Amino acid sequence: MFDSGVGGLTVARAVIDLLPRENLIYFGDTARLPYGPRPLEEVRKFALEIMDGLVEEDVKLLVVACNSAASAALADARDRYTVPVVSVIEPGVKAAVAATRNRRIGLIGTHATVASGSYEAAVRASNANVELFSQACPRFVDFVERGDTTSEELVTLAAEYLEPLARAGIDTLILACTHYPLLSGVLQYVAGDDVVLISSAEATATEVFARLKDDHLLNPARRRAVHRFVASSEEGAFSDLGRRFLGPEFGRVEHRPWDKA
Ligand code: DGL
Repeated sequence: MFDSGVGGLTVARAVIDLLPRENLIYFGDTARLPYGPRPLEEVRKFALEIMDGLVEEDVKLLVVACNSAASAALADARDRYTVPVVSVIEPGVKAAVAATRNRRIGLIGTHATVASGSYEAAVRASNANVELFSQACPRFVDFVERGDTTSEELVTLAAEYLEPLARAGIDTLILACTHYPLLSGVLQYVAGDDVVLISSAEATATEVFARLKDDHLLNPARRRAVHRFVASSEEGAFSDLGRRFLGPEFGRVEHRPWDKA
């Protein structure tokens, strides 16, 4: 599983909760964070380098726990690897379509995700009769990576970003960046209780379970699973935030500049 930083830990948490016997290797590309403002082609290159590295570790399934990377590289990854590749996009769309009552769904994500049109494509593929309203929120990732999930500055920024979506009358909001569930307190406060927030973390974990089950890949072992956390930059905020956002399974961080793998 990988992300540009700590955001994908929201997905890791859900996967560990659902599948406690599965070994996990999580890569945070902290040296090249953030992905959101970069051209899609560059994000695609990073994502494939990282997944090549993970496949060399002999993983049985890949989780793209980053919407920007999934938007840039999902189709290529599914062609390139023989192991199943699960992303956060389709599970998020499925959960949002099930939740909306007025069929007006908002989406917040990075520039890369919004510019790619990946969610519009996933909505079309699902044949759901819903309207999607997208808003890039490029400054949110910095707040999360600084560990700021509640400040006044953040509340003001969230109010600015969500205003056009409120005007569009959405009743459901897809958090289309894996960092954003860590801001759900502020987002729910600003959006109001009538808007359902959709984090794709649990839906993605369910999809991971389904793929492993259908492909007869679930780990039958009864012993405790091994969870490894790897970052591309030297020790930094990743360790502290990892403990805070993931919890007790977050151990020592290995350093590996995976682009050199
Ligand atoms: N967490 C990532 C995503 O889901 C990327 C954030 C970033 O690096 O800009 O889009």
